[in-house]
Amino acid sequence: MKYDLCDPKNSRYCCDNVQTNTSDSGLDVVRGLSHHPKTLPSYYFYDQRGSELFEQICGLPEYYPTRTEQGILAAYAQEIANLTGKCDLVELGSGSSRKTRILLDAYTRLQGKFTYIPIDVSTTMLQATALDLLADYPQLSIHALAGVYEIALHHLPPALEQRLLIFLGSTIGNLSPQEEVIFLQQIEQSLSVGDYFLLGVDLQKDITTLTSAYNDSQRITAEFNLNILHHLNYKFNGNFNPENFEHWAFYNQELHQIEMHLISLENQVVKLCDLDLEITLMARETIRTEISRKFELTALTKQLDHYGLPVQKIWQDERGWFALVLCQKQ
Ligand SMILES: C[S@@+](CC[C@H](N)C(=O)[O-])C[C@H]1O[C@@H](n2cnc3c(N)ncnc32)[C@H](O)[C@@H]1O
Repeated sequence: MKYDLCDPKNSRYCCDNVQTNTSDSGLDVVRGLSHHPKTLPSYYFYDQRGSELFEQICGLPEYYPTRTEQGILAAYAQEIANLTGKCDLVELGSGSSRKTRILLDAYTRLQGKFTYIPIDVSTTMLQATALDLLADYPQLSIHALAGVYEIALHHLPPALEQRLLIFLGSTIGNLSPQEEVIFLQQIEQSLSVGDYFLLGVDLQKDITTLTSAYNDSQRITAEFNLNILHHLNYKFNGNFNPENFEHWAFYNQELHQIEMHLISLENQVVKLCDLDLEITLMARETIRTEISRKFELTALTKQLDHYGLPVQKIWQDERGWFALVLCQKQ
């Protein structure tokens, strides 16, 4: 682990780089593109441009999850803080921390000083956000971890207080059911008895609402999807031509998940030189870039209970589209 991003002059701020061999070496890309059907790990969306595009997506009229979750937080953040009591906050996939500010406000009112530990693979977004937060929250200390959360969870600084681990934006829906099991076990292991886990989840609803959210009329989601190819070109010295691909997002009713794919528009061979990888794509063949699973609360509650994270309380919006689920490690 490197400590090259810490500023010794600023005792309120530290950022550790916890990248891994697998993510840095691109082994996961080689694996995903060598199998049939082809897939890519969705965290490759998030270079600087990808993070900016995701911020734009959050404001789109069709993209209901962000504003719905924000509404629930605005209504209940203080209740959440009062319920957990004093806590340090750890956040997985924190991004711009925009919605988290509502929780930071509530915890500042409750306890004054505390530590926020944001974790994100998008280092530029993580650092820019941390500096904004330090300016806006004079009582806050930040210990950021730059890297994939699966690894960062092993590098959390020692806990001085009880912890609230936050995972918003229904990012858990990007994990397959098998990955989710490993992830929940990891969450349970990284918490101490009495610590809390706050999970934002997108719920099952009508197909038109779901599909529109990933096929916006301004085509920002399409640009976000195609940007993953620019990121791969940059990171691994590749020659993907994004113009040879098309965005495709649909709801898989059987698996209750949105699937985002890139469709190859022609027969083509693409190289990622630094990975020594040649990818052959047939016309209409797809690369699946993301799944976004949609949840049902009874099954999810059972699952969380099963993995040692029993649900304490659930808050929802009026339409029942999104939920915030608070669990406590027993
Ligand atoms: C869907 S966005 C959600 C951002 C924010 N939490 C929200 O609710 O709006 C996912 C965020 O998680 C980050 N991310 C995705 N996969 C990750 C991983 N495996 N490890 C660390 N960060 C990840 C991305 O960089 C991005 O900021």
